[in-house]
Amino acid sequence: MTTNRIDPRGWRCRAAEMVASVKEKGYLGDPRLEAAFAQTPRHHFVPEFLRLDVDPEGAAQVVGVVDGTSPEYLDALYSDQALMTQTKPVRGQPGSFVWSSSSSMPSVMADMIEELDVHPGLRVLESGTGTGYNAAILCHLLGDAAVTTIEIDQELLYAAIDRLAGVGYHPSTEPAPRGYDRILATHAVDQVPPDWITWARPGAIILTDLRPPSNTQVGAWLKLVVDADGRGATGRLMPPRGYFMSARRVPEFADDGQNLPELTIEEHQHRAGLIERRDVRVPPDVLDDAAFALYSWRRNLDIWSWRQDGEVTLSAADGSWAQVGGDTVSLIGDRDLWADVEHTYADWRAFGQPPITDWTVRVTSDGSTEVVLPG
Ligand SMILES: C[S@@+](CC[C@H](N)C(=O)[O-])C[C@H]1O[C@@H](n2cnc3c(N)ncnc32)[C@H](O)[C@@H]1O
Repeated sequence: MTTNRIDPRGWRCRAAEMVASVKEKGYLGDPRLEAAFAQTPRHHFVPEFLRLDVDPEGAAQVVGVVDGTSPEYLDALYSDQALMTQTKPVRGQPGSFVWSSSSSMPSVMADMIEELDVHPGLRVLESGTGTGYNAAILCHLLGDAAVTTIEIDQELLYAAIDRLAGVGYHPSTEPAPRGYDRILATHAVDQVPPDWITWARPGAIILTDLRPPSNTQVGAWLKLVVDADGRGATGRLMPPRGYFMSARRVPEFADDGQNLPELTIEEHQHRAGLIERRDVRVPPDVLDDAAFALYSWRRNLDIWSWRQDGEVTLSAADGSWAQVGGDTVSLIGDRDLWADVEHTYADWRAFGQPPITDWTVRVTSDGSTEVVLPG
């Protein structure tokens, strides 16, 4: 572990300044939560972070590691910003990298804890231990006996457990069935894991960021209340107040990529010769409407889509592909993927285009997460 040469009084002054800036944004109204942020040494949990550089195309690159020997370290640690701490490749794309762990933005952490009304007397499960900083805040607030934290990446988990023990906290890392009044995830999910329902007590509240894997364009925060019989949960969506990295399915990869068939160059060239074109019935900018983009994703979960420079690219695991720009759809494969979105748009209009805050989300312990529009 990196040893930081940090003046013990110095970090407290900086933590107080960070708390003041988070309060200015409207968080930390509860003095107990304010004390947790003011008295938890973030530098202890984030001994180093990755320095990024963004190239002219907007792609981020890791250009170095910042630790306690660097003058910028403490300024960054005690400011309201997320700090990236790990990258992993995408499955099937050696050499690629995607963020796979970080210390979240303190105001977003505070927002989640407040949205869940976490207060002493409750038992809380956090999914996504990461650096352990958020778990430490929860331990300060609730006592470590009331906190469980889980992490898919054992290396990260062991490092976080050590750091937590270093400040006197020993939260559990083994979820207990029907053990929790609150569950919060500091990673995004595309389906609510059924385990969360079985770990929650009846009436428990769950908060998570619901979004497609590795997608900052589409998503919402989801707040669920677990049924009295504990077999499912019902909830509401709200516009996201922070984006979380996707849940990993395995620790080795940041995500499973687009799950596309791997093709040789010849196969790609052959496919390029198969492109068909048609006029759009619905223009690509319908996906600028965040609510429709979310609805379209939930209705077409097997379609991966990305918007850039006014164009939409869609693909599916069977190799079907579409690109929509202006008035034209370019298509390859058996499925017309844009037609699926066009049908969804007709239904969306028929439903009266309700705001996401009016939708209901139903989750069952068999693993389904279903969005229900009003009417
Ligand atoms: C934004 S970081 C967590 C920040 C953390 N709470 C902190 O205070 O440092 C998201 C974390 O979720 C973890 N994660 C991803 N998929 C997961 C899964 N399926 N189950 C549990 N943890 C997961 C990642 O490895 C990563 O450490």
